[in-house]
Amino acid sequence: MKIFADTAIIKEIEEVSKWGIISGVTTNPSLIAKSGISLEEAIKKIVGLVDGPISAEVAEADAESMVEEAKIYAAMHKNIVVKIPMTIEGVKAVKILSSMGIKTNVTLVFSVSQALMAASAGATYVSPFLGRLDDLLKQDDAGFNLLKDIKEMFRTYNFKTQIIAASIRHLNHVNQSIKSGADIATIPYNVLKEMVKHELTDKGLQIFREAAKK
Ligand code: G3P
Repeated sequence: MKIFADTAIIKEIEEVSKWGIISGVTTNPSLIAKSGISLEEAIKKIVGLVDGPISAEVAEADAESMVEEAKIYAAMHKNIVVKIPMTIEGVKAVKILSSMGIKTNVTLVFSVSQALMAASAGATYVSPFLGRLDDLLKQDDAGFNLLKDIKEMFRTYNFKTQIIAASIRHLNHVNQSIKSGADIATIPYNVLKEMVKHELTDKGLQIFREAAKK
């Protein structure tokens, strides 16, 4: 499973890109607002830091307007993937963009039928949101079950659309993404840092450090 960084904060991307294991970046309007810079500025900086798919989200609108906005982002860099919301207009936009060879990431996916609509329109990626679905259904495996169902559906019908597990809040979501066979998990900075940790690693290091002193 590939690891993407789910952030538009340039300092965070600078740091995690140095680890050498980040294959792409996803942004959305909330993350751009948090970053304090415009989407255009963020795109320009991020493409210089990570050589992989960078998702930039269009504003929700009619299909034609989304396609026009998508063309602008796609023209900025070869790695740009246009993030399109899961609506009827979004599906129409994805169909047009895929015929133009522009990569898309259909976002705010919460059901298998939404994933089927996105994949049928030719989406490059779909982004099921784990955390938000778990919150809604007050379960800790609702997002996990959705990932598994989408994976199975794509396999059954031979879709090439890749699954980006999104809205990841903690390590269990990362583990669930791995177990589900998701192609990618897009992970916020705080969870990325947690992924290297284990209490026994810390304990073991302490023991080895003391031994090394002797
Ligand atoms: O990947 C989508 C993500 O940024 C949304 O996360 O925590 O707002 O549901 P969250």
